[in-house]
Amino acid sequence: MGRITINDIIALKKSDKRISMLTAYDFYSARFVDQAGVDIILVGDSLGMVIQGREDTLAVSVDDMVYHTTMVRRGSKRALIVTDLPFMSYQISKEEALKNAGRIMKEAGAGAVKLEGGKNVAPQIKAIVDTGIPVMGHLGLTPQSVHQLGGYRVQAKGKEQAIKLIEDALVLQDSGVFAIVLETIPLELAKLVSEKLDIPTIGIGAGFYCDGQVLVFHDLLGYDQDFKPKFIRNYSNLNQIITKDIKKYINDITNNQFPNDEESYHMNPQTIEEVKKELEKDEYL
Ligand code: KIV
Repeated sequence: MGRITINDIIALKKSDKRISMLTAYDFYSARFVDQAGVDIILVGDSLGMVIQGREDTLAVSVDDMVYHTTMVRRGSKRALIVTDLPFMSYQISKEEALKNAGRIMKEAGAGAVKLEGGKNVAPQIKAIVDTGIPVMGHLGLTPQSVHQLGGYRVQAKGKEQAIKLIEDALVLQDSGVFAIVLETIPLELAKLVSEKLDIPTIGIGAGFYCDGQVLVFHDLLGYDQDFKPKFIRNYSNLNQIITKDIKKYINDITNNQFPNDEESYHMNPQTIEEVKKELEKDEYL
């Protein structure tokens, strides 16, 4: 079976099945996510935070996105791979946007790119789509604009902001995006947008009326017990499991319980006796 295509994703809008999307950033995370059966793997620029340990996504480069997408591509066989265009890789001009989207498709093997913004980035979206590269939009809390937004907070709660977001969604659809991520907006607004559009919406902190949902791999698995916005559901508590296991490993070394005999390689007893004999010769004394 080949990879899921954007046509499969668009078709899901008209079905009862919701679209599942999850981030992955390397070979094994991609393999876990793909083998579990997710529809879309997002190589998100959230890697700036969960992989690189930065405060936000702004410093992530196109090279970083190419590097991580290459690994995700190797680790997956079935899911559609969507890769984020990072901050300032598409805002300046259509030419820059095309060049960078092209690199992500050609060098890394993504199946589509994602970029943040509404009307302001419509010319870039059209140029990329016209070249034959599928684009996913991203509205609401757009993390690349965190300084403009004044932090990571719920967006479009008021009438004007809400209408602007709906207008932006319609412009994105007209520009040719195949789906739109709606991040951290009220559920009622996400419902309205999802009903108005012919293309799927994928929510994160946008409630259950969206056509699909996305989470960050590390958030789903509970890597950081101190990071818990209300839209995250921890399906595991890996921070506790990993810490417990690493402590056990250190303890086993300290108490000489790792490695044991079965975890060691053995030599022919006669050979080791011969080696010892050799060492008794003058030249080794
Ligand atoms: O970068 C990312 O992981 C994202 C998701 C949070 C939608 O854009």
